[in-house]
Amino acid sequence: MAPASIVLCILLWASRCQTLDKFIAATYEHAVILPDETITPISRQEALDLMNKNIDILEEAVKTAAQQGAHLIVTPEDGIYGWRFTRETIYPFLEDIPDPDVDWIPCSDPERFGPAPIQTRLSCMAKHNSIYVVANIGDKKLCSPCDVGCPDDGQYNYNTAVVYDSNGKLVARYHKYNLFLGEVQFNVPKKPEIVTFDTPFGKFGIFICFDILFYYPAAALVVEHNVDTILFPTAWMNLLPHLTAIEFHSAWAMGMGVNLLSANTHNTSNRMAGSGIFSPDKVIPYYYNMKNESGQLLISELNSHPRNSSTYYPITWNLYASQIENSPSGSNVFNGYLFADEYTFTELKELHGQYSICQDNLCCHLDYTMAEKHSEEIFVFGVFNGLHTVEGEYYLQVCTMLKCQTTDYRSCGESVETALTRFDSFSISGNFSTSFVFPEVLLTNIHLAPDMFQVLKDGRLISKPGISSHPLLSATLFGRWYEKDPTPK
Ligand SMILES: *[C@@H]1O[C@H](CO)[C@@H](O)[C@H](O)[C@H]1NC(C)=O
Ligand SMILES: *[C@@H]1O[C@H](CO)[C@@H](O)[C@H](O)[C@H]1NC(C)=O
Ligand SMILES: *[C@@H]1O[C@H](CO)[C@@H](O)[C@H](O)[C@H]1NC(C)=O
Ligand SMILES: *[C@@H]1O[C@H](CO)[C@@H](O)[C@H](O)[C@H]1NC(C)=O
Repeated sequence: MAPASIVLCILLWASRCQTLDKFIAATYEHAVILPDETITPISRQEALDLMNKNIDILEEAVKTAAQQGAHLIVTPEDGIYGWRFTRETIYPFLEDIPDPDVDWIPCSDPERFGPAPIQTRLSCMAKHNSIYVVANIGDKKLCSPCDVGCPDDGQYNYNTAVVYDSNGKLVARYHKYNLFLGEVQFNVPKKPEIVTFDTPFGKFGIFICFDILFYYPAAALVVEHNVDTILFPTAWMNLLPHLTAIEFHSAWAMGMGVNLLSANTHNTSNRMAGSGIFSPDKVIPYYYNMKNESGQLLISELNSHPRNSSTYYPITWNLYASQIENSPSGSNVFNGYLFADEYTFTELKELHGQYSICQDNLCCHLDYTMAEKHSEEIFVFGVFNGLHTVEGEYYLQVCTMLKCQTTDYRSCGESVETALTRFDSFSISGNFSTSFVFPEVLLTNIHLAPDMFQVLKDGRLISKPGISSHPLLSATLFGRWYEKDPTPK
């Protein structure tokens, strides 16, 4: 055999049977074209026309990603039909999506379960471009009055993520469990669904948007099912200081030790912006743009098994903090509200200092050095240990250092996007009662700080030297104590 054909044979063999240590992932942030707001349902044809307009744009992103070698692409929640629906007005947008067990390639057999034009088009997009496609569509399931949960109109509607493999086969279907406020058009499935599938480049799990704040199914996919990569379609409304999309989603990937492929919807008037290919172990591409209404494709290579990377280690979040003595809490301790949670704050009065501050059983510790002090801004260190009750109920344990919106203490915890103060170094730790802690560092103008901080094995969030070249907005250990959540109805 000539050398070239040997190489070809090896390549063919490798692509068929080998597992891949690395793969190329893509996400597309999409500025979705919305249907007109209406209280009377439009026709199926009008709904299809609108959905096809959105898919036309997604298809361009899929083609570009495939041409650049991507194995998989994630598109956003609500990316095909938008939002502002009632139960009635969503109907023409829904299709019955079968269980992936039926082993179906809609592109090859479109009528097998009755007309399914949207599923067929998505499947063909995957097949014709030889790429896994992740999309969000609406599923409908007829139910009978004997079924106690069956809605009056005789069907369940689900906010649904679907995955087609590179042959166009349906390999995953996930019904969103944690619906957000206002998703009145959809039903909650009776039980949280754990949806995973295997590929030559690792084990995948999937959930949608608000799910990320809860144990089921989000954390359970990692803890109980050992997935490597999470597919995450979202329509995330940014909320400073702790819940901006790129900030929280990158922190979740880091805290959980998984890749998280986050594709957000783009609509700046709704503060929906910010996507990324987040991984626990390397500098990540992300996109955050509030200046125009353009979509954005991101492509990056990732480890197929991030927890097997040489740079990965498990973290004991409370180790350092449970071994040290408390420092004083400072002379200016006060209470303030952050997203309606009552924090205890202390002001960072000096250029350098050490503080400890506690709420109930959680004590947070800070050691910091500022590069300079600006009289027009103040920073505080704060703690919150309690049940958050606005826009969802979930128990938090948070240690945070942040810039106040103004020099008025009452503004501490309010949203602020720019800062002047740079830090030479900081170290934050807390004696958390949970092992689910997400490390967030946000720079002025909503930039992430890849390579400017790390978390040590003992749970300390510490800055790296690069941090001093950028003004800081906040640095946070955002803990979720799932066991203390109210049990769902
Ligand atoms: C963003 O969404 C709102 C409705 O929530 C809509 O009125 C507005 O037109 C959207 N913006 C764009 C650029 O589509
Ligand atoms: C929107 O902003 C992004 C990022 O700044 C830029 O790449 C893109 O070209 C802009 N699009 C338009 C239509 O101006
Ligand atoms: C990950 O590493 C563990 C321990 O070193 C090994 O047993 C396992 O096979 C590795 N998994 C993969 C998928 O490489
Ligand atoms: C955290 O530290 C404080 C102060 O040392 C202590 O009172 C508290 O019990 C600790 N909490 C836990 C969960 O160990």
